[in-house]
Amino acid sequence: MKDQAQRLRELARDRTFTGTFSASQTVQTRHRCKSIAVTSGKGGVGKTNIALFIAVTLAQSKKRVLLLDADLGLANVHILLGIAPKYNISHFLEGECTLDQIICKSGSSDFDIIPGASGLEKLANLDRGRLEFLQHEFFKLEQNYDYIIIDTGAGIGSVVTCFASKADTTIVVMTPEPTSLSDAYAMIKVLNEKRCSRIGVIVNMVGSDHGGAEIFDRLNTVVLKFLKKPIEIWGILPINKEVPRYIRKQSVFVLDKPYDNFSKRISSIVRKVSGISCNNNKQGFFARLLNSGIVINKVD
Ligand SMILES: Nc1ncnc2c1ncn2[C@@H]1O[C@H](COP(=O)(O)OP(=O)(O)OP(=O)(O)O)[C@@H](O)[C@H]1O
Ligand SMILES: [Mg+2]
Repeated sequence: MKDQAQRLRELARDRTFTGTFSASQTVQTRHRCKSIAVTSGKGGVGKTNIALFIAVTLAQSKKRVLLLDADLGLANVHILLGIAPKYNISHFLEGECTLDQIICKSGSSDFDIIPGASGLEKLANLDRGRLEFLQHEFFKLEQNYDYIIIDTGAGIGSVVTCFASKADTTIVVMTPEPTSLSDAYAMIKVLNEKRCSRIGVIVNMVGSDHGGAEIFDRLNTVVLKFLKKPIEIWGILPINKEVPRYIRKQSVFVLDKPYDNFSKRISSIVRKVSGISCNNNKQGFFARLLNSGIVINKVD
């Protein structure tokens, strides 16, 4: 009699993970959920808020959205939304609950959340059977969504850059501060080395559009000089004193004020990012993540 791991191994092999499909399986697996990671070199530049705004805006246009809190040290998407999840990704990795049980509803806005938690190091110790089980579960999960938005932690450590580089599209957030500029360059350099599919920049918390464009030009000049390729700017967002106020009341600015200029800028970013096609790799985000070094290398 076959054990569970054996059956899952066969399922996993048949369905996706080698990247080859039979004709009938292609129909079954045609859906490809787009993944968008929001990351930064420097902390506190607005990643979590921007990830949330993107998720809310996509959900408002009737897209099925999953927001993954991949800031495993300082997970706080659920705090921003005033949710107290019973389970997080760590419980699932430990086999203490199912994947369905860790998915939370966002409340007023219609999208799902996987709350973050520390504990990714557990992925480093998985045996093959368990890894394939996880791949299978995450594969099924991705079929339920049009978009996964990944809110990463800050910095160029291997965990952050692994999550950031496995998405179809990676948004690097920076602010006009000089340290943010050098940290954004460091992040883009690493993402480039990891063959990240597509990178774009959002300059957040600018005093003026002119100032935002100027800081982006400085970054682009350095990237062009040393990495020999231009980067794209996907948006400039002003300082908006209401953003922190909304956080304090655990509410979402773009939901409450969809016609505000700030919300319109978020919509414009979403239009740009969602227009980008998936990368050519047939695997989804989670399969790429689980197949990457994150499972064998010791995490930072
Ligand atoms: N456009 C903005 N205008 C004003 N304040 C903003 C703006 N964007 C973000 N903030 C504020 O900046 C602070 C940091 O935002 P956020 O938590 O989203 O950053 P982060 O990059 O996710 O931080 P971390 O690196 O700690 O995860 C918050 O207090 C937030 O309210
Ligand atoms: Mg954050």
